[in-house]
Amino acid sequence: MISTNNLSLRFGKRILFEDVNLKFTEGNCYGIIGANGSGKSTFLKILSGEIAPTTGSVDITKGQRMAVLKQNHFEFNEFQVLETVIMGHKPLYDIMKEKDALYAKPDFSDEDGMRAGDLEALFGEMDGWNAESDAATLLSNLGVPEENHYRRMDELDGNQKVRVLLAQALFGNPDILLLDEPTNEIDLDATMWLEDFLADYPNVVLVVSHDRHFLDAVCTHVVDIDYGKMTPYTGNYTFWYESSQLALKLRTEQNKRAEEKIKELQEFIRRFSANASKSKQATSRKKLLDKIKVEDIRPSSRKYPAILLNNMVRELGDRVLKTEHLGAVQNGEVLFNDVTIEVQKGEKIALLSRNSLATTAFYEILTGNNTQYTGEYQFGVTVTTAYVPIDNAPYFEGVDMSLVDWLRQYSEDKDETFVRGFLGRMLFSGDEALKQAKVLSGGEKMRCMFSRMQLQRGNVLLFDEPTNHLDLESITSLNNALQEFPSTIIMTSKDHTLVQTVVNRIIELTPNGVIDKWMPFDEYISDPAIKALRDEMYETTTV
Ligand SMILES: Nc1ncnc2c1ncn2[C@@H]1O[C@H](COP(=O)(O)OP(=O)(O)OP(=O)(O)O)[C@@H](O)[C@H]1O
Ligand SMILES: [Mg+2]
Repeated sequence: MISTNNLSLRFGKRILFEDVNLKFTEGNCYGIIGANGSGKSTFLKILSGEIAPTTGSVDITKGQRMAVLKQNHFEFNEFQVLETVIMGHKPLYDIMKEKDALYAKPDFSDEDGMRAGDLEALFGEMDGWNAESDAATLLSNLGVPEENHYRRMDELDGNQKVRVLLAQALFGNPDILLLDEPTNEIDLDATMWLEDFLADYPNVVLVVSHDRHFLDAVCTHVVDIDYGKMTPYTGNYTFWYESSQLALKLRTEQNKRAEEKIKELQEFIRRFSANASKSKQATSRKKLLDKIKVEDIRPSSRKYPAILLNNMVRELGDRVLKTEHLGAVQNGEVLFNDVTIEVQKGEKIALLSRNSLATTAFYEILTGNNTQYTGEYQFGVTVTTAYVPIDNAPYFEGVDMSLVDWLRQYSEDKDETFVRGFLGRMLFSGDEALKQAKVLSGGEKMRCMFSRMQLQRGNVLLFDEPTNHLDLESITSLNNALQEFPSTIIMTSKDHTLVQTVVNRIIELTPNGVIDKWMPFDEYISDPAIKALRDEMYETTTV
């Protein structure tokens, strides 16, 4: 069990949350929800001891071990896969490292010998000799094939990488599992595997996610961060969402009397509980919604950022992009090959591949960041590209700059009021615009990348997974902006609705060439002939 006592956290004048007194107990899975920047990751960091709260404390049942899946999936890039998994058990990993360092010393002293002896003993107690084989078994169970175990993390695609990071978190069966956005980079299969896994996990699980479907599948409880408070609800995400929407509706119906409103909410809870108890969840270990009090339910205060992409530097000419036999190989693996396409004005393209390294490599080549390719590509003379990459860490990590200064770098007009206008639309106003770029939350970084994109004034926009980390309000704004954008877009996204409502052409990169169709996404993925073609195109990979 893990509990918090009068926990509060402030950054300067801003209160993220206060008076948090919550208990998280065995067998339950708690979904931590809230808008981008509301403090979800910060809350998990406090629980794991990574940062200290302003006031209050965290209690963990004695002897229990906690493991964490972090939001930054690029953090272990330079480590080997097996080692990354073992790092999940920090005490064990530290001993391994110290031992290795001792044995590597050219002048190994008696003192070193004593220390090495102590370490060997501790290592044995922790079952260290089996660590590698345990880690390997876990990886294989998670669908990471053996040929990947000795590769470096940055050689894996996002989907494999998150499986490794999950293995890291699960290594040694932690009593308390903290997962920050676990489904961000994984495919549907892996998400479903994780849903099943968490549904049966007997210990304490806290999970942060913006994925409604996933939250509904795994959560027994929801904790909403809003108004500087953390409010727990028994039940899943849909229940929280429907009830807060209803509360909002009732609030705006000024002329209704208080008793009527309460009655309506009670009726809602009753109906919802009745449905929930028939569902699969309620029949397993999920609890009924009997403990909910009407006064607990409040409308959500979430806001929509104003994502505006329509300030192109100039009108796009007819010819946008031409590639000839474009191909890329990474670490001996063919990512894509023989891609010959022509892109015209007004096309909105979904760029797909079963291997996300392929789509990412394609964007990196087009933007001049990756020169390891064969074949050719050429943009039309009128083209100005603007790009939101999948990994934005290089733009923020260790950057000692306020948000105003950060964004000013990308603006021709250096005037503070001008720059602040862009930040304001992305919901950073007043003091918020003066905070350091490096402290931003995952979703806030994305919003800043959209501001940067606006300032680049591109007429060809490239997006590699733009909805990662975004809350629903931001996804809605992005979706509208992409629909309204009058010029060319090439994008890759796991958000089905986004792709379906924006694109008019599908380009799929495979090791054996390209599949290129002018049709809606739904049609593309449901057409049996295309499905057969896709299976065939991925089949044989030759170097
Ligand atoms: N050291 C700091 N100083 C000032 N503000 C900070 C600091 N660290 C984080 N913040 C701010 O605290 C807020 C909470 O950040 P956090 O990363 O917890 O958000 P989150 O709920 O996880 O959001 P997301 O859904 O985008 O991941 C953000 O507005 C962030 O900019
Ligand atoms: Mg976060």
